[in-house]
Amino acid sequence: MSDRTFQEVLKEKTEQITEIVRSFLPAEEGKQRILFEAMNYSVLAGGKRIRPLLILETYRYLGGDPEREKDIVYPFLSAMEMIHSYSLVHDDLPAMDNDMYRRGKMTTHVAYGHAVGILAGDGLLNYAFETALKAKMLPGEQENVLRALRVLADKAGAYGMVGGQTVDVIGTGKSFTGEELLFIYKLKTGALLEASMMIGAILAGADEETVRAMEEIAADVGMAFQIQDDILDVTSTVAELGKAVFSDEKNKKTTYASLFGIEESSATVEKLTARALARLSEYGSNGQESVFLKELLMYLVHRTK
Ligand code: IPE
Ligand code: IPE
Ligand code: MG
Ligand code: MG
Ligand code: MG
Repeated sequence: MSDRTFQEVLKEKTEQITEIVRSFLPAEEGKQRILFEAMNYSVLAGGKRIRPLLILETYRYLGGDPEREKDIVYPFLSAMEMIHSYSLVHDDLPAMDNDMYRRGKMTTHVAYGHAVGILAGDGLLNYAFETALKAKMLPGEQENVLRALRVLADKAGAYGMVGGQTVDVIGTGKSFTGEELLFIYKLKTGALLEASMMIGAILAGADEETVRAMEEIAADVGMAFQIQDDILDVTSTVAELGKAVFSDEKNKKTTYASLFGIEESSATVEKLTARALARLSEYGSNGQESVFLKELLMYLVHRTK
């Protein structure tokens, strides 16, 4: 990053992502205007924009054509942030984690009521696919866009994030074994991170083997990311995180941190990250993109919010 720090570059890139996502959001008009307002509220409330960043930076890391970013990558990275935001809106509902703060603001169901909160999540999930389908394909790109859509659909659904959330909520109050926890984390958090790196790779035109490798790397990153989220739930503050702390304890959840302790959990985060970075080095180039993506993965798991 030469003369600019990673944090400065990250801030700039995060703002760029927010502007791209904003450009795809629906106009707040019509009889269902309240729905659009609630959808946009939850997406624009803030957030680290990690999944869209991973799509864009993996695309660049693997040599994707910069000229095609706007037409094919932007719709997908926006779609991913919409799906992620919907997952948070529903995760915070009273029937799930029952949390009141998210991204430094009131949660969507608190601001707009439960019914509109649920519908805003539904709206965002569907709108994500409406957005990804806005990709402007050149004739040779159709197959890759279709592959990317398939990954987005699979990883967001019952075999991915929704499946993980299900096992997480039905187990509330019960104790989990380490193995069960890893299953939940791989799906509820890992799946969207896996999809992000895979989609970046697919759109860049990577071969099947490289796409699989990105999936495995992101699986490690996702696991580390969720373990770090569990650690922050018990070590951070509402002001720093912008969301509730001790949410897991309140909901009587077994987490990696509660099962193995903070120290061992942090060591696992380190180990998973080191493995992901070593594997990533086998791919991509040695340019600026390469440095940034690696720093991003390190930041993700050492983050304080
Ligand atoms: C929160 O995700 C939910 C988890 C999977 C741990 P993020 O930590 O990426 O949340 P935002 O997008 O920054 O708000
Ligand atoms: C949620 O895990 C993961 C999702 C798929 C939304 P958490 O319930 O731990 O996420 P936070 O801590 O509320 O962000
Ligand atoms: Mg939850
Ligand atoms: Mg939660
Ligand atoms: Mg959490």
